[in-house]
Amino acid sequence: MASGCRLLPLAVTLLGFLNSSVTTLMPRVSFSMGSPGRRLTRFSSADVGNTTTLLLSEDCDTLYVGGRDAVLALDVSLEGGIVLRNKLDWRPSEKDLEQCSMKGKKMADCPNFIRVLLFLNATHIYACGTFAFSPRCVYINSDTFTVSLKPDEGRGRCPYDPYQRNTAIIVDGELYTGTVADYRGNWPLISRHLSEGSRVDLKLDDTLGWLEDPTFISSTFVPDEGKIYFFFSEVGREYDFVDKFVVSRVSQVCTSDVGGQRTLQRRWTTFAKAQLLCQADGELPYNVLQDIDSLPPAADTPADDTLFYGIFTSQWSVNLGLSAVCSFRLADIKSAFSGGYKVLNRDTLQWSTRVQERVANPGECGLHNASDNALRFVKENFLADDSVRPAGGRPTLVSAEHRYSHLTVQRVRAANGVDYVVLFLLTESGYLHKAVLLPTGAHVVEEVQVFVTPQPVKSLKLSIPKGLIYVGTSEGVLRLPTANCSFYWTCAQCVLARDPFCGWDAARRVCTGLSAPDLGQDVEGGNVEKACDSVTSVHRARFGPNNLPAGEPLPVSLHEVVRLPCPAASRLSRQWWERPNSRLSPELFLHLDDGSLSFVATPATLGHYLCLSAENGFRQTVAVYHVKQKSAPPPGPPGPDAAPGPNFTLWMVKAAPKEAAFRDGDPLLAAQTPSYFKELVAVSVLLVLCLSALLAVLLYAVKQRWRSRTVPQRADVHGRNSAEHDALRSGPEESKRNGHVRGALDAASNGHLPNTPI
Ligand SMILES: *[C@@H]1O[C@H](CO)[C@@H](O)[C@H](O)[C@H]1NC(C)=O
Ligand SMILES: *[C@@H]1O[C@H](CO)[C@@H](O)[C@H](O)[C@H]1NC(C)=O
Ligand SMILES: *[C@@H]1O[C@H](CO)[C@@H](O)[C@H](O)[C@H]1NC(C)=O
Ligand SMILES: *[C@@H]1O[C@H](CO)[C@@H](O)[C@H](O)[C@H]1NC(C)=O
Ligand SMILES: *[C@@H]1O[C@H](CO)[C@@H](O)[C@H](O)[C@H]1NC(C)=O
Repeated sequence: MASGCRLLPLAVTLLGFLNSSVTTLMPRVSFSMGSPGRRLTRFSSADVGNTTTLLLSEDCDTLYVGGRDAVLALDVSLEGGIVLRNKLDWRPSEKDLEQCSMKGKKMADCPNFIRVLLFLNATHIYACGTFAFSPRCVYINSDTFTVSLKPDEGRGRCPYDPYQRNTAIIVDGELYTGTVADYRGNWPLISRHLSEGSRVDLKLDDTLGWLEDPTFISSTFVPDEGKIYFFFSEVGREYDFVDKFVVSRVSQVCTSDVGGQRTLQRRWTTFAKAQLLCQADGELPYNVLQDIDSLPPAADTPADDTLFYGIFTSQWSVNLGLSAVCSFRLADIKSAFSGGYKVLNRDTLQWSTRVQERVANPGECGLHNASDNALRFVKENFLADDSVRPAGGRPTLVSAEHRYSHLTVQRVRAANGVDYVVLFLLTESGYLHKAVLLPTGAHVVEEVQVFVTPQPVKSLKLSIPKGLIYVGTSEGVLRLPTANCSFYWTCAQCVLARDPFCGWDAARRVCTGLSAPDLGQDVEGGNVEKACDSVTSVHRARFGPNNLPAGEPLPVSLHEVVRLPCPAASRLSRQWWERPNSRLSPELFLHLDDGSLSFVATPATLGHYLCLSAENGFRQTVAVYHVKQKSAPPPGPPGPDAAPGPNFTLWMVKAAPKEAAFRDGDPLLAAQTPSYFKELVAVSVLLVLCLSALLAVLLYAVKQRWRSRTVPQRADVHGRNSAEHDALRSGPEESKRNGHVRGALDAASNGHLPNTPI
């Protein structure tokens, strides 16, 4: 193994051997809903809801969607939008609904919620729905989109209750499911259906302890092993000292299983389960599995390197993070199943480590015609002694801020030939995070808002060949590309993003996808100097110490309040202001919370201002302003209601729109959609300012009176300063009116930032 590793090519995947880090997984860039930088394509229809079961055709051009009372075929091959191609109505009759509500169920839960939607063979789709708490399954012809046979009974294939989670997978025309198989939800089952000929349908034996109140999450087929793996969480009875301790599990069955001949007839002979442990040494485990996705091994690596990435949350609130991601190697799962097994004492219902002689290997395929003795042994020994520990011995990432619910994973080959694992993680609050796993920890490239109100059921589907992600929610289906490289408009931004999907094409001067050769990219280091040679020299030439940039000219009148905005380049950058050959004394300059600089124009404050930003060791000039006195008579306020008088004209200077788009809350969007948040803030700020001004005036009056009694009047330096400060403070008061002021200045500006390569 060790020597084999040495022979592996450069494109060795980082097999998840990553440092766990309870870091602030701060997304570098945030796109709110509808932001032009990350456009979403949406499909929703008034008569179709709860569109949460997604199935993508092999050519990735059709997305089949299971919704409420309907199965849809959506044409997703067009870039412009998602088009409904076919719709199959499949709803319970009035009588069914009546019976459902007579049984005491809420009418809203009685429709047919589609919970299984899988390809059966080349011509048919198999679908199951809750059907008014009386589950059913049908065969759908995928061309004509008609139901071709009379419905199957859905018991054991689909839950009765639409809020219960289930999992299903079809291999060679047989359906393997994990679901509760009764109306009350007390009988959990892992079973096989649609078997034909000498093969028989199989299920778990009815004896105790196979499954303990499980929540099924996912299932996957590993062809090399001939096994189906089920992932779920359940009550961990082996930890009988903790009440209702939840554990996460992987379980397995062999597809070759046909049950025993006398013992375990029509029952699994190959079922085994093991604990999945998402835990760092000395810390409490993240014990509740939320979602899991598999990452096939890289080309030329053995199937044992298959990884399973799971989201876990904790049963206890004392954990440091809200959720964690752990990855598990197939090799580790296999070795847990081939080790020792615990044995259940059926009288005391206690688990113990086995002491009797081992007469069979539980979990081994091909036990169907083993002796009764061996099968009895298998029946008693199905819980592996060893837990499966995460790859690298600890969680891949732990988030203190976000509760993740769903994930999907892909491997991306970067410009330098190294493979990186990229996770797409859906937060409960409706953001999709894109995280690239680096040797130093996870880096969250971006977050995109995909829904606003919390969704009870969600699903994610990744289309790797097309570079698209689908999100299914109760409200509809959304599509977004895995990356939008053209959003980064300079080499520095492109490299700092550290997005393995994007690199800088120096010839065409664009940030682009990885199809082009020789791209500037540094996923691990984000080193701009290294990856963007040419741009940096341009940058230096233009902004060397003796080479003052022209800057955005800004004519002002004396004594007027000037406000220079400086939009943040990213959430990971640090911004500050500089004046050549001068310092920004705190008495004259006000640093506002949004990063802008405010001051009163006096002969001393005219001149150049540079807003600088540093990220990942790279410094860049974000904006340069040249504040100078107006030569012509003042042209008057830019608009009739823009300012109370020329002394209080507020100047808003335009920043290039793309820069602005980086800001939290996305002003581009805010400008288009009505939002009263700004007004609210402005009014609140105004109120606070009024109150503090009143207080200041009172204090000042008291002080003056006191002073006039004790000392002779001082020179008015102090007075002027405080007047200036008052004038400064009146700045934000005006900002709520500046909508059209900004617009006017937009038109006047050349639209280029000083550091934008032209
Ligand atoms: C990518 O970003 C650019 C620049 O913000 C924007 O114009 C374009 O619409 C975006 N494309 C998508 C698909 O989001
Ligand atoms: C697919 O399965 C359906 C239902 O069992 C059957 O009618 C159909 O003939 C099968 N098609 C193929 C190509 O096997
Ligand atoms: C085991 O079963 C297979 C068929 O499933 C049969 O061909 C074989 O003879 C059996 N082996 C024994 C030892 O009974
Ligand atoms: C279906 O969607 C609605 C919102 O559109 C939601 O309130 C309801 O809980 C969903 N039902 C299920 C079973 O997910
Ligand atoms: C500014 O206000 C002062 C008095 O408050 C006034 O004397 C002066 O003319 C004003 N300046 C301009 C440019 O209007």
